[in-house]
Amino acid sequence: MTQPRRIIIDTDPGQDDAFAILLALASPEEVEVLGVVAVAGNVPLPLTQRNARIVCELAGRRDIPVFAGCDAPLKRKLVTAEHVHGVTGLDGPPMVEPTMALQGQHGVDFIIDTIRRAPEKTITLCPLGPLTNIAQAFLQAPDIIARVQEIVLMGGAYFEVGNITPAAEFNIYVDPEAAEIVLKSGVPAVMMPLDVTHKVIATRARVEAIRALGTNVGRVAAEWADFFERFDVAKYGSDGGPLHDPTVIAYLIAPHLFTGRFINVEIETQSELTLGMTVADWWGVSNRAPNAMFIGDVHAQGFFDLLTQRLGRL
Ligand code: RIB
Ligand code: CA
Repeated sequence: MTQPRRIIIDTDPGQDDAFAILLALASPEEVEVLGVVAVAGNVPLPLTQRNARIVCELAGRRDIPVFAGCDAPLKRKLVTAEHVHGVTGLDGPPMVEPTMALQGQHGVDFIIDTIRRAPEKTITLCPLGPLTNIAQAFLQAPDIIARVQEIVLMGGAYFEVGNITPAAEFNIYVDPEAAEIVLKSGVPAVMMPLDVTHKVIATRARVEAIRALGTNVGRVAAEWADFFERFDVAKYGSDGGPLHDPTVIAYLIAPHLFTGRFINVEIETQSELTLGMTVADWWGVSNRAPNAMFIGDVHAQGFFDLLTQRLGRL
């Protein structure tokens, strides 16, 4: 019996982030959530830290420490995505204000301290939003870089190109300098780009299977999916919303569901036209050294079967 992967979730909830957090908290055999760190992204930090606490309370896990991290990208003005997630970031079902406390420590300091205290290569970072907190931790404490076991992140796009601009995926676009720091750090990285997340569409049947769990978590999650799909259905004509962020956690639980290539991925940080583009050398045409496992495919129904079964535990 292998030990559960010890993870820190860095997140900007976001309905899809909420699915990821719930999946992680429902899967103690495979992942031990050491803490949840909020970052500014889909909505401003006061809301992402509130939403992270709401999700932990929904899962019955008031014991999970939730921290507030950075409230803006390293060098740029924050760009948010209320048009996708609603003004609260968790629009859909009405939610009560959280009562669990926000931790007093800054989320970046929590990341640094946790990695310094743990044995080398035993902590996995799971960023689900802009990479600001991770990059800031590496800038503040370069000694932790070699100690990180792995980074499994949602972000980027190649064949799918952009969702916030014609060229860039939102998480990378919001803080491209942070993404560049993370991808050039040398930490083993697994990327869940739109190429794979656009294959996990929460169709009506899949959402109804979640609602049919008959639990409060199932009801709330289904109503989040009902709200969250609007943007992608209108833009792509898809038959549901792509559940981007839980692919990160599902990869840790069931990596066999996913396939990809270990390739070079670099970030555009100079051009205004293509800012935040992930230039993924999928065809190996450059001599740039591979630095990320870039996931391109998934067994979508297997993903939803796993997600639904685990949500049923909460
Ligand atoms: O582009 C999709 C990503 O941006 C997801 O993580 C979503 O939650 C938003 O943060
Ligand atoms: Ca997110």
